[in-house]
Amino acid sequence: MTLSDNMRQQLIQAAKQVRKRAYAPYSNYQVGAALLTSTGKIFTGVNVENAAYPDTICAERSAVVCAVSAGEQKFEAIVVATQNGGYPCGSCRQVLAEFGLDIEVLLIDGEGNLLQQNTVRDLLPGAFQNKDLKD
Ligand code: THU
Repeated sequence: MTLSDNMRQQLIQAAKQVRKRAYAPYSNYQVGAALLTSTGKIFTGVNVENAAYPDTICAERSAVVCAVSAGEQKFEAIVVATQNGGYPCGSCRQVLAEFGLDIEVLLIDGEGNLLQQNTVRDLLPGAFQNKDLKD
């Protein structure tokens, strides 16, 4: 799908703003995510770290959990904001893939500059999906 300029800007601003709420005292790598549903709603998330490091939750998955908890399961795009435009980790790619390979993933830096745009399909070739459980 093609994001309108207006919606892209809204998502970028939402991801940039929510990133300020990241809880990242261990890595000091703050991440914000803004997820657009097919109903036009935006759900945000941040990374939430833990003294037990593996219990950390990434921003992308926080946003997905927030959206699904609100009854949304169809997603169009996600903007991920980091200081340097870093890519989503493998676990976040897998969780996004659960909800569709066509979801657009836009990466922005801390100033809100758009650095990359790819689909989940691009980022996770050969994704394991629920169809693989049935075949
Ligand atoms: N992080 C995310 O929030 N999303 C990603 O896709 C990559 C990593 C977080 C987890 C941790 O709090 C910090 O970035 C450093 O790994």
